[in-house]
Amino acid sequence: MVLKKNKRKKRLKILIIHGPNLNLLGKREPKIYGKASLSKINQLIQIEAQKMDIHVEIIQSNHEGELVDLIGNARKNYDGILINPAAYTHTSVALRDALSACGVPAVEVHLSNIYGREEFRRQSLTAPACIGQVSGFGEESYLLGLEGLVKALRK
Ligand code: DQA
Repeated sequence: MVLKKNKRKKRLKILIIHGPNLNLLGKREPKIYGKASLSKINQLIQIEAQKMDIHVEIIQSNHEGELVDLIGNARKNYDGILINPAAYTHTSVALRDALSACGVPAVEVHLSNIYGREEFRRQSLTAPACIGQVSGFGEESYLLGLEGLVKALRK
């Protein structure tokens, strides 16, 4: 008897990064960022990940250098990055360079519509180093961004 080889593809591994102050979600300016806490958003992401049959690891950091290290090392362990760089979106050349250098496709997400807010938020330094961006759909931005990233990786 010839045993059929298991042709099932390896599960994609996605690194989800929440940038500075997103640990305060739920309490932080709920009119702008919504009432959901970060752990609630992470639960929604995990549910979506199960549906998509992918593996996600979720990290939050307030420290730019730590985020640069995470992104720089992503190639070893991950197929893609979903990132909300938060305030670093508008300021960090270091994060943009890390995203450009890391060799792993990334999608940028924002809870609020950064293009409808203060002038200084309307520029993203990090988005040009990503394959796409989702902005303005609250916690749904993460799920939409994840869907887009996974579809792009599976193409
Ligand atoms: C944010 C938008 C940024 O301008 C802000 O600094 C954040 C959150 C968002 O998800 O809407 O911290 O990235």
